[in-house]
Amino acid sequence: MKPDIAFVGAGNVAFRFSLALQEKGYNISTVYSRTEKSRDRLVRALRANGSDTKAAGRLQDLQEASLVVIAVTDDAIPQLVEEMAAVFSWTDSDNAAEKAVSRRLPAVVHTSGATPLQVLQPLADLGCACGVMYPLMTLSRNKNIEFRDVPLLLEASTDGLGTLLDSMAEDLGGEHYFYSSEDRLKMHVAAVFTTNFVNYLLGLAFPIVQHDHPLLIPSTIEAVRNAFLHTPASTLTGPARRGDMETIHKHLEVLQKMGLTEQEEIYRLLTDKILKKYHPEDR
Ligand SMILES: NC(=O)c1ccc[n+]([C@@H]2O[C@H](COP(=O)([O-])OP(=O)(O)OC[C@H]3O[C@@H](n4cnc5c(N)ncnc54)[C@H](OP(=O)(O)O)[C@@H]3O)[C@@H](O)[C@H]2O)c1
Repeated sequence: MKPDIAFVGAGNVAFRFSLALQEKGYNISTVYSRTEKSRDRLVRALRANGSDTKAAGRLQDLQEASLVVIAVTDDAIPQLVEEMAAVFSWTDSDNAAEKAVSRRLPAVVHTSGATPLQVLQPLADLGCACGVMYPLMTLSRNKNIEFRDVPLLLEASTDGLGTLLDSMAEDLGGEHYFYSSEDRLKMHVAAVFTTNFVNYLLGLAFPIVQHDHPLLIPSTIEAVRNAFLHTPASTLTGPARRGDMETIHKHLEVLQKMGLTEQEEIYRLLTDKILKKYHPEDR
């Protein structure tokens, strides 16, 4: 049976994840967030598809769900977990297993790439099954995305939760793998290079050619595709890779004339790295 799901947080991930799960037949019963504005916006979007999702004002309300997805900023997770554990811990029994049964505690997962499963330990100590469902994708509230294109990295403290997360990921339709917290963190670092840093470099390139920047699309996509199809090293081209020093000087002159100092600084840094790697004899 599909679990009733509560979301904590109503930002980019909560928005996209909850709507995608709802589309696959999951009941999003409750949304709790810091501010009413974002919480109510997500509740309205879910209700527009026919659910009777509740806007929760108290953490107590999360206990009615069978799975709680924490999708708040990384830094807010530990404090929130402490607060949830304080709320969930009411019981007259000292036995952790009995607590979980008597209070029917929900399973709890977070969605962070860089945060270990261990952060949920205060809830695990109460008897909650704990896990991670990390979408390896840039998600934005304002941009619809097909979850079958989103790899999910999963982690679970119990076999039961592992089976549940696996079937949820299966329903969403994308690739999904069980990853330890340590390996997920490494993937998160790698994704900073392939997405955030690439985005930063695109932001440096666009002003050099101004409104003609769409002409760069085919070569950019081809370079990324080739690096993944083969290897970055075997598909690298360009003046630094060839050791064309005259071209490099011409490029630097252009950037200096345009007064693009940030672009010049990064060009020098990356060119130097590539020259050292591929032409060490000249350095
Ligand atoms: N966006 C991505 O591309 C992406 C991809 C994969 C994983 N993640 C992970 O997913 C998590 C959420 O990221 P996001 O991009 O969705 O962040 P976000 O858009 O900034 O949204 C964060 C949400 O958390 C709420 N919040 C913050 N502190 C809270 C607290 N103490 N109690 C309750 N709610 C609180 C915020 O409330 P307000 O709305 O009131 O400000 C907001 O709704 C993070 O762990 C992030 O690392 C993000």
